[in-house]
Parts: sequence; C-alpha cells; structure tokens
Amino acid sequence: MKKYNKAEPFKIKMVEPIRQIPYEERLAALERAGYNLFALNSEEVYIDLLTDSGTGAMSDNQWAGIMLGDESYAGSKNYYHLADTVKDIFGYNYAIPTHQGRGAEQVLFPLLIKPGQYVISNMHFDTTKAHVEIAEGRAINCVIEDAFNTEEYHPFKGNFDVDKMEEFIKEKGKGNIAFIIITVTCNSAGGQPVSMENIKEVSEIAKKYDLRVIIDAARYAENAYFIKTREDGYGDKSIKEIVKEMFSYADGFTMSAKKDAIVNIGGLIGIKDDEELFNKARARLVPLEGFVTYGGLAGRDMEALARGLKEGVQFEYLEYRIGQVEYLGDRLREAGIPIQYPVGGHAVFVDAKKLLPHIPYYQFPAQALGNALYLEAGVRGVEIGSFLLGRDPDTGEQIESPLELLRLTIPRRVYTNNHMDVVADALISIKEKSETLKGLEIVYEPKILRHFTAKLKPVE
Ligand code: F0G
Repeated sequence: MKKYNKAEPFKIKMVEPIRQIPYEERLAALERAGYNLFALNSEEVYIDLLTDSGTGAMSDNQWAGIMLGDESYAGSKNYYHLADTVKDIFGYNYAIPTHQGRGAEQVLFPLLIKPGQYVISNMHFDTTKAHVEIAEGRAINCVIEDAFNTEEYHPFKGNFDVDKMEEFIKEKGKGNIAFIIITVTCNSAGGQPVSMENIKEVSEIAKKYDLRVIIDAARYAENAYFIKTREDGYGDKSIKEIVKEMFSYADGFTMSAKKDAIVNIGGLIGIKDDEELFNKARARLVPLEGFVTYGGLAGRDMEALARGLKEGVQFEYLEYRIGQVEYLGDRLREAGIPIQYPVGGHAVFVDAKKLLPHIPYYQFPAQALGNALYLEAGVRGVEIGSFLLGRDPDTGEQIESPLELLRLTIPRRVYTNNHMDVVADALISIKEKSETLKGLEIVYEPKILRHFTAKLKPVE
C-alpha cells in the first residue's frame, strides 16, 4: 500500500460549495480576463491552485481561538500566547507580529541592509527580493544547479551551493554583504527543501565572516518533514525537535504565517537573542504595521496563529499534506507529464518547456498551459516563468527564464484527492493534444509586476 493511501487525519465539519463551470462560461471568462488567470473571479474557478497562501482551512481549535480574541490595543493576552509559542517551537526569545510575510520584511530588512550591500539567498521570493531592493540592497541567489534540472532526483534541491556562496563573499568582501537568508522550503525552486547539513554549513560560513543568518520561514514545517524523511540521522526525531535545530543555526526569521501556520492572514518576525535588534524592529513596527503587541493583526488573528503554529508541526498532518502533493505528482509522472521531481512541499510544478517544446519562451508556454488547464477543467494554476520574470529594465527585451513552470499550489486541508484526480485527468487530456496549444502575446502590460494585471491574446 502506498503511503498516500492513508486517509486525512481530520473529518470535515463545515463545507464551502464549489461548482463546475460550463465550458462556454470558462471561455468567456478567460477572454474577459485577457488570458491572465489573476483576472478571473474566484467564482469562475472550480479548483483553485493559484496559491497555498492564506487559502488553508483552519481547524475547530483555531476557530475556537478566534472567539477568545483579546482586542486590547496594548498587551493583548493573545500576543503573549503567540510569543510563548514562538519561544517553545523555535527557541527564540523575541516575537513581533506583522500583517503578513512582506510586512515582516519591510520592518526588518532596512535595519540590516546598508545601501549597495548584497543579500545572499538560496533563492529569494519575489517580495523578499523587492524588499531587499527597496532598502537599496542587491539580491543574489546561490541555489545548487540541480534545482534547475527538473527530471533528476535530488533530495534537497533547495540547498545552497556553499562554495559559490563563499567565493561570492570573498570576492565582494564581507563588509559588502548585509546578511544571508535561507528560504525554507525554497519556493522559487519548486518548494524544494534545504537539508540540515546545508543549513549548518551556511551558518558556519556566516560565522566565519561575521554575517547574520535569517530564515525566510514561510514553510518551516514542510522543510522539517523532508529532513525527517530524507536526511540520515533525523528519522527518529520529532518535527518540533528538527524545527528547533534548524532555527538554532540562524539569528532571526521573517515568516508569512499564511502557509505552514495555516492562517488566512498573519506574519511574524522572530529574533533569537539580539535585544538591540528587537528594540529597533519594534520601533519601526509601530508606524508601519501597528503597536508592538499586535503589529497589524487583531487579537483573534494572533490566537489562531499561535494555535496554527502548533498544528503545523504535527507529523500526521504533514504526512497527509505532503502525501497529497506527492499523490498529484505521481499521477502526472505516471502519465509521462514532466514535473519538477521530486515534488516540493506545497505544489507540483509542471515543466511546460518540456511539455510544449513548440512554444518559445517569449510566447509563455507555462501561461499557455495554465490557460489550457482552466479551459479543460476550470482549474487555476499560476505561471512561474518568463511571463513572471518580465523584461530587462535597460533594454526592454523579454528575459528568458531558466524554467517555464506551471505551479499547481495545493491549499492546506482544503481539497481531497478526488480534486487532485480532476487536475491530473485534465492535464493528461491536454498532453494528448499538446501540439495544438498556442503561445500568447502581450497586448497590455504595466512596467512593474506586470504578471498580475497584463492582458494577453493567443498568437495566430
Ligand atoms: N517568502 C516566501 C518564501 C513566500 O512564499 C511568500 C509568499 C512570502 C515570503 C511573502 O509572504 O505573501 O505573506 O506577504 N508567497 C505566496 C505564494 C504569495 O503564492 O507563494 P506574504
């Protein structure tokens, strides 16, 4: 029996109806949306795999916590519960709530970056890179080459190329490096994990050059699950023990709590023991996010978050969660559909460059595939490729992305494997007629972050 044949470790108390959309309606909606799935109304979507961010289903225990919100402006008891939970799970002394992950980034990064300095990551997430650049820093990625080879198995494709990283530090000089940020799991590489060994190595190099290590902790628990199931020496450790060890090698974290902490809104800054940095971050928090004991969240949100942090590290939950992503990945692989392999923690990334070799990068193969999947079955994924990457700011030329991926992002505790079957069957039927798919051209685009609002049309 395959491990994903285990049933969900929960039963369902409340349901939200969804409906299959007739083909003609889907066609009209896609045209109206300018062939950009971001412009669809959610009611025009049957199964929504746009993101795993803020889309999870909270538990009865989290909803019960919502009713215990202490909405005091200062000193809410929910804040103290949250701070105690951060201490318990991550071993960090200081916790600062923010409205979401990018709120944490905008508060912390300017305190750590001097203009012109580099920030080194395995791979920066878009908003993380944006906040580095807003603080006049420069974002550099040092992920291992294996991350770009979708077909070849590697247990930790989110790892840093530590030699490349150290070379870079030596070349630029440690004074020109602001800090190192480890993204766990590495979203941009396909939700790929970073091994404990690699985290430790990065931390040792950082110590050698007197640099801070920050963790981008959005998917901290999923990363710990992969360490437990794939890395020697961790099979008998609990997820909580693994999380604590991971964070022991860093100095602080920023977190979008909308992922592994399974809340619909929320974020955090965690600081291990640097009281001065904590005080500086709190001082910035007040004008940007809110007073120090709420930081942009209601008391009830902080309570749901504290409870979600604890649920996120339960092994049975993670086994089900990642098992579901593997289930979809296995169905696609069995049908010969190329995906980033092994699958990551939160999504299956379909390799559209391989599936649609006749569509060049400047006609956005993964966007074409996303549109075809919507037309086929009302399923919404998201393009991670040249359309997202955009143009060279100097020449205006379209940049060619190393990968053209369609991300099928699985919300937590929301869909069943029957939904995954709908997605897999639809992609299999698209594969059978893949030569008939056409590329896209842009008819309108804004200068910055164009993929959210650009309009396209199929090429003739
Ligand atoms: N870091 C990572 C690794 C992320 O994946 C995200 C968000 C953020 C930071 C920013 O957090 O959205 O709470 O402000 N990722 C979402 C996604 C949006 O769809 O992958 P946020």
